[in-house]
Amino acid sequence: MSLFTLTLSLFLGFQFVHAGLPDKIYGVNLGSWLLIEPWMMPAEWISMGGEICNDCSKCIQSEYAFAEKYPDTVDAKFAKHWDTWFNQADVNDLLENGLNAVRIPLGYWIVEALVDRKTEFYPRGGIKALRRGLTQLKKAGISVVLDHHALPGVHTPNQMFAGRCTPDVQFYTDYNFHRALVWTAVMTALSHLDPAFETVASIQAVNEQIMDASKTPGYGEFSKNFVKTVRAVETLLNIHYKRGHRSFDDRTSSNFTATMEKMSRTSTFSLPVAKALQDAVPILVSLAVELKIQTSIFGLSSLFRKREALVTNFMDIGWQHNNPSTPPMPQSDLKPTIAIFSP
Ligand SMILES: *[C@@H]1O[C@H](CO)[C@@H](O)[C@H](O)[C@H]1NC(C)=O
Repeated sequence: MSLFTLTLSLFLGFQFVHAGLPDKIYGVNLGSWLLIEPWMMPAEWISMGGEICNDCSKCIQSEYAFAEKYPDTVDAKFAKHWDTWFNQADVNDLLENGLNAVRIPLGYWIVEALVDRKTEFYPRGGIKALRRGLTQLKKAGISVVLDHHALPGVHTPNQMFAGRCTPDVQFYTDYNFHRALVWTAVMTALSHLDPAFETVASIQAVNEQIMDASKTPGYGEFSKNFVKTVRAVETLLNIHYKRGHRSFDDRTSSNFTATMEKMSRTSTFSLPVAKALQDAVPILVSLAVELKIQTSIFGLSSLFRKREALVTNFMDIGWQHNNPSTPPMPQSDLKPTIAIFSP
């Protein structure tokens, strides 16, 4: 920020709030970039070494099956795909066509520490490709929805988009709800702290959960905890999401992860949220080093940082039948108001 804009923003009372989602969204999905669905790109998939068959659980037709089959070459093959499937020429196309937003489907394995490598097989290195693309989208002023499209434990049977094609669905369990909340805490923190994520305006909890709500036990509670986790991280960053929001004033440290660690051990947050924050801490500490992200949030430059709260995003309530479990949320939690980093 130049001295001029700094002075001006002080004068105008911090009006240069980051835009968040545009008023009117002209968007597109960046399908098969960081989460390959082979049906979208059969020729490339086969040339990479994948297969196409009628029942995707029976051949190499998901990221999981590919990584299990080719443990030594999977990372290099996927890195090449990430570099070529979406790059600057595509960003230029988006602009030329008047688009102002994208949704990026992601697997839980983009947060690599969440993967149990003994039983779960996925490519590594996606986070760097994501940051490269986000940086290009940011330069183009394009808003981003990060979409948790493939959940830990698999959330929908026999679907390539779930990352693994299998009838064995294990997402709707405490262990995997917890891992999804850790993912949420990490992605929320990155969205607010990593400059590459500057135009990220929203996170989607889950793509296409099982449509029959009677088969998704605990999903409603998970949805609430998803919103609470996003808001907990924002509370610790002093990003306000509702009117009358009280500033978080326990600033004994300028180290964000240390603050998160400390607060997760108090009664400030409910247990599932506190546990998610706790397990997000070591992941954020190592990502901050690996990606060179500044996590000292209370320094001078941060006094003038302004972020809007993220829009929390779900499938429409009509997606499920048999007593839809996406719960009605209090309006105040769902709808972010303008956020100012109050010094
Ligand atoms: C910040 O706190 C974390 C623990 O949450 C610690 O591992 C890290 O070294 C601290 N960073 C700095 C720069 O002190």
